[in-house]
Amino acid sequence: MQIFRAKCESCHKEPLLTDMSFRNNGLDSYFTKDPGRALISTLTQDSGLFRVPSLRNVALTHPYMHDGRFNTLMDVMNHYNSGIQSSSTLDPLLSTGGIPLTLAEKNDLITFLGTLTDYTFIRDIRFKE
Ligand code: HEC
Repeated sequence: MQIFRAKCESCHKEPLLTDMSFRNNGLDSYFTKDPGRALISTLTQDSGLFRVPSLRNVALTHPYMHDGRFNTLMDVMNHYNSGIQSSSTLDPLLSTGGIPLTLAEKNDLITFLGTLTDYTFIRDIRFKE
């Protein structure tokens, strides 16, 4: 939780684990395939911006990101650590080349994300298909 609060919380804000904003978290340099928020707003400064998602129950909801490009939470950790792509709309919080994470920190973050699974909610009969 301490690592999460230091390195992720600025966008994935407690208690919902989202600040409800749209941001570019460095997945791509070009947004021709999916312009994200710009598709709706038609503003170039919204290119590559996607809604910061809640991380509640995230351990159960792979694949990750708007296009499901990452299968595991370790893939996501590796993205933030060493996969950030620069572009004119990249969020300033990530513009220094990403978020430095040791292997131990990646594993600790994944363990922490696992604590966000709400078994009472997911087993609630009222939400059964
Ligand atoms: C600059 C803001 C920002 C920071 C900092 C940030 N994220 Fe994200 N995160 C996002 C955005 C935006 C998305 C959604 C991108 C998309 O849909 O393509 C996202 C998506 C995710 C997802 C995928 C969720 C899903 O359901 O697909 C995970 C997991 C995640 N972030 C974890 C983290 C962790 C762990 C950290 C810290 C190491 C972190 N994020 C730091 C903005 C941020």
